[in-house]
Amino acid sequence: MTTVTVAVTDTVDIAELARVYRDVHAADLHLADHSDPTVEDRLRWTAEAPGFAATVAHVDGKLAGAVLGCPLPPDTLWWRDIDDPEVAQEWPGRTFAVCEAFVLPEHRRHRLAVPLILGLLESRTEERVSLAVAETNTRVWRALQALGFAHVGDLVPFPGWRPHRMLNCPLPLASRR
Ligand SMILES: CC(C)(COP(=O)(O)OP(=O)(O)OC[C@H]1O[C@@H](n2cnc3c(N)ncnc32)[C@H](O)[C@@H]1OP(=O)(O)O)[C@@H](O)C(=O)NCCC(=O)NCCS
Repeated sequence: MTTVTVAVTDTVDIAELARVYRDVHAADLHLADHSDPTVEDRLRWTAEAPGFAATVAHVDGKLAGAVLGCPLPPDTLWWRDIDDPEVAQEWPGRTFAVCEAFVLPEHRRHRLAVPLILGLLESRTEERVSLAVAETNTRVWRALQALGFAHVGDLVPFPGWRPHRMLNCPLPLASRR
């Protein structure tokens, strides 16, 4: 019988996460989005951010997916491409940002992302959650919009990356379980 566990944590193994991330994005590793900055650097920056929190899923003891995030500080660069001050103004406790979300291909469509995301967000006290999804990742951003996330603008997270859609949703999400 398969054993699936999902745990909330503030301690992650960057090398293990990076290995899984590269399997998740194996077909796209040539893109700047997945190589510059390095996956390890990005994961470490997130893991070192004040208030960092994550959920990790294991299937039969092996890491199968994770969602990583942190609260945005008032001087965040997250909104640098967004003109609307109603969206872009940040204050302590306003926004929890999901910086990474991935599940290994062999475990997809088993609803593993659901407990990963809800498990991470259900205890958050922030007013809203925000995440950035590559413009080409239409399935994911359409699914998120169907869940109530609003497209509030676009961002190129790092030079050379594909444009990303910024999607926001009020917290709590609990009613969407
Ligand atoms: C996005 C991702 C994390 C979803 O993981 P998952 O465990 O397969 O997702 P779930 O099985 O929990 O699906 C939850 C819902 O998401 C949507 N969804 C997820 N993947 C989808 C796909 N390929 N096509 C259509 N809808 C999809 C559906 O609405 C689904 O609900 P349903 O099963 O009732 O149709 C996974 O596909 C992944 O790692 N993709 C590559 C990385 C990525 O795109 N990350 C998101 C960037 S923020």
